[in-house]
Amino acid sequence: MLIRPRDPGFVHPQASDITPRAVYEGRRAWLRRMAGGAAGAALAGWAGREALAQPAPPVKRAALSGTPSAVAGAMTMEKPTGYQDAAGYNNFYEFGIGKDDPARHAHTLKTRPWTVEVEGLVGKPGRFAIEDLLTLAPMEERIYRLRCVEGWSMVIPWVGYSLSALIKRVEPLGSARYVEFVTLADPRQMPGLRSRVLDWPYVEALRLDEAQHPLTLLAFGMYGEVLPHQNGAPVRLVVPWKYGFKSAKSIVKIRFAEKQPGTAWNKAAANEYGFYSNVNPGVDHPRWSQATERRIGEDGLFAKKRKTLLFNGYEAQVGQLYAGMDLQKNY
Ligand code: MTE
Repeated sequence: MLIRPRDPGFVHPQASDITPRAVYEGRRAWLRRMAGGAAGAALAGWAGREALAQPAPPVKRAALSGTPSAVAGAMTMEKPTGYQDAAGYNNFYEFGIGKDDPARHAHTLKTRPWTVEVEGLVGKPGRFAIEDLLTLAPMEERIYRLRCVEGWSMVIPWVGYSLSALIKRVEPLGSARYVEFVTLADPRQMPGLRSRVLDWPYVEALRLDEAQHPLTLLAFGMYGEVLPHQNGAPVRLVVPWKYGFKSAKSIVKIRFAEKQPGTAWNKAAANEYGFYSNVNPGVDHPRWSQATERRIGEDGLFAKKRKTLLFNGYEAQVGQLYAGMDLQKNY
C-alpha cells in the first residue's frame, strides 16, 4: 500500500531507511544517562529534537540498567521500522481516518499544560501534571512489535516505563479489577471528532493484572525522542501483546473500576473488537484473517507476509494471564 505524501518534500522511506546505527545507539546512551539519574537535565532537552540528534559515542546494545528481566527477555532484536513510517502511517481517528491524516492534522494538539487524572477505586487518587509523570520512574527504551488489528505491524523503540510504577503509587483498592483509559476529546484541537465514527472520547481498558504486567508501557517518547503528536503525545499506552487499538493515545484520565468498562471499539462493533483483543492468529476477525501480517516499510510487489504470532510473540511473558481461558470466546 502506498502512503500519500504529507508534504511536497516528503519522500516515502525504503525498507533500508532506518536510523543510522551510530545515531540510534547514541540515543541509547542518552537514555542510559536518563535512567542513571540525569533525568532532570535530559528532560529539559526533550522539548527540542535537535538536542537528541547530537552524535554520541556508540554503546553496546545491552539491556538498559534497571530494566526488569521480564522485560529484557521480551525485547525484540528485529530492525525498527523507519521513523518516517512510524510517524507517518497512523491510526488516531480524532485527527481523521486516513493513515496520513494524523501526521497532517495533529499539530493542533496542545500538549502543555497536560494533566492525567487518576480516580476511582484507589487509595490515593489525584491529578498528575505531565512533568510529574515524566519523572515518576526511570525512563527505559523498549523495542516492541505493534500489531494492528487491520493486519499490519511495525517495530518501534518506545521510551517510557511500566505502567505498574504509576499503579503502585496510587494504591488500588482490593475491589479494583479493571483500569480504564480515557483520552482527550477536544473538538477545538481534534477535527476528527466531527465524524461520528466512534463514541468519543476514545476509551480503552485492561484487566488490572494486564495493566500491572511489566510489559505494559506508559510511553512518552519513541526513537529516543519525545512522542510526535500523531503517535499519542504527550502520554500513551503501549500493550504489545494486544492489537494496537488497545494502546490508547493522549491519555487524560485513568480510572480504576470493579466492573468491566465499555470501550470505544467494542461499543462500535462488539462482534469484531472484543474486550481482550489479544493478538491471535487462530482467531480471525469476522471480515478477514489474522494469520499473517504486513510489516510497514516492507511493502512492495514481492514482499512476503509474515506469520502473526500468538500474543504477538510475547506468549512466554503474558500467556499465564490467560491460563484456562477460552481465547476463541474471549477474543
Ligand atoms: N488512541 C486514540 N485516542 N485514538 C485512536 O484512534 N487508534 C489506535 C491506537 N490508539 C487510536 C488510539 C489504533 S487502531 C492503533 S493501531 C494505534 O493507536 C496506532 O498507534 P501508532 O499510530 O502510534 O502506530
